[in-house]
This record gives sequence, structure tokens and C-alpha cells, in this order.
Amino acid sequence: MKIVAFNGSPRKTAACATLIESLCAGARAKGHTTRVFHLIDQDVKPCIACYSCMGHKAEICSQNDDFIGMAKEIMAADVVVMASPVYMGQVTGLFKTFFDRWLTFAEADFSIRHVVGKRFVTIVTSGAPAQQFKEVTEYLKHWVGDFFKLKHAGSLVAGDLHEPGDIHERHELLREAEALGRSL
Ligand SMILES: Cc1cc2nc3c(=O)[nH]c(=O)nc-3n(C[C@H](O)[C@H](O)[C@H](O)COP(=O)(O)O)c2cc1C
Repeated sequence: MKIVAFNGSPRKTAACATLIESLCAGARAKGHTTRVFHLIDQDVKPCIACYSCMGHKAEICSQNDDFIGMAKEIMAADVVVMASPVYMGQVTGLFKTFFDRWLTFAEADFSIRHVVGKRFVTIVTSGAPAQQFKEVTEYLKHWVGDFFKLKHAGSLVAGDLHEPGDIHERHELLREAEALGRSL
């Protein structure tokens, strides 16, 4: 099985990245392959609302940037991991710019192509206690699950995180992430 993860944090070794890595380690222990994209390293332009994707004028998207390769990875994957810190009460701008480009998976009549039936995991980290921003997880579950029709395979929420290394003290959460990876 193939797992592809997207990290919406600009910090490549902090909480989201570490939880992704624990999840992927669990998945690899079960023989699955994993690939992680740190969105900060990717050239992803904002959606320009040209609707070429929905009108089938472009195979995936009319903009030729790193999203095209990531969309192909999503199409080839069995499980998609969507990870973002909470910034100003929502996913990061980095993550949202990437997610807007998922419009390519919607048809003109809003039926969904390429991703229906795949499974997804959400990871949300925050400075505040985790329960304070549970609506961010609900937002991801709604749009990835209800709208894009992937099947929910699990969610990790981690709060009270400030310094990049704080997550390394959260042994129970790291075990939970690894167990989720093993269960996929
Ligand atoms: C610009 C910015 C905005 C943030 N906004 C919030 C917020 O609204 N609520 C919150 O609890 N934490 C907020 N935080 C803290 C991050 O969500 C928290 O440190 C998170 O663990 C970072 O994830 P990372 O370690 O993967 O980078 C913000 C941090 C930054 C840099």
C-alpha cells in the first residue's frame, strides 16, 4: 500500500513533521511505502479559478508547478495524510493554497474524480490545548471526506505545542501516531 503525506507546517522537523514520521514509521513496519511532501519546499501557486480542470481543458491543472506531481502522487496513493498546524484558528496558508488546488479532483457537476474511495488521515497541531481547535479537524474531515469522498482512517490532534522540539516529549501521542500507521 502507498501512503502519501502533506505537511502544511513551514517547520520541517517540528510537530506535524514528527507525527507524520511516526505514522509513516508504523506504516513502513507493516510493509507499506511512504512519501512525505513538506509544502514549504514545493512551488504551489494559488488556484487562479480558470476552471480548466473542471472543464477538462487541462489533464490535471493548467498551472505547471509542483502541484501536478503531488496530484499524481495522490492519484496513485491508497492513503493520503493531511497535516497542518493551526494558524489564526485554521489550517496554514501554505496548506490551504495546496488544498484549493484539489479543485482539479472535482467535475463540473461537483462529482469527484480520481480520489473517491481512497483513505485519509488528518493531523492537526496547535499551541492551545487540542480540544480548542477541534473544528479544524472537522473542517478537514468535511472537505476531504464528505466533499472529496475519501474515507476517514483516523485523526491525530496535538495541542500545547510551541517549540519545535516539544512534540518529542509527547511519547503517548507519538505511539498513537505509530499505531495509526500500523493500522492502515
Ligand atoms: C502565524 C502563527 C499562527 C498561529 N496561530 C495559532 C492559533 O490560532 N491557535 C493555536 O492554538 N496555535 C497557533 N499557533 C501555534 C501553532 O499552531 C503550534 O505551535 C503548532 O504546534 C505548530 O506546528 P508545527 O510544530 O508542526 O510547526 C500559531 C503559530 C504561528 C506561527
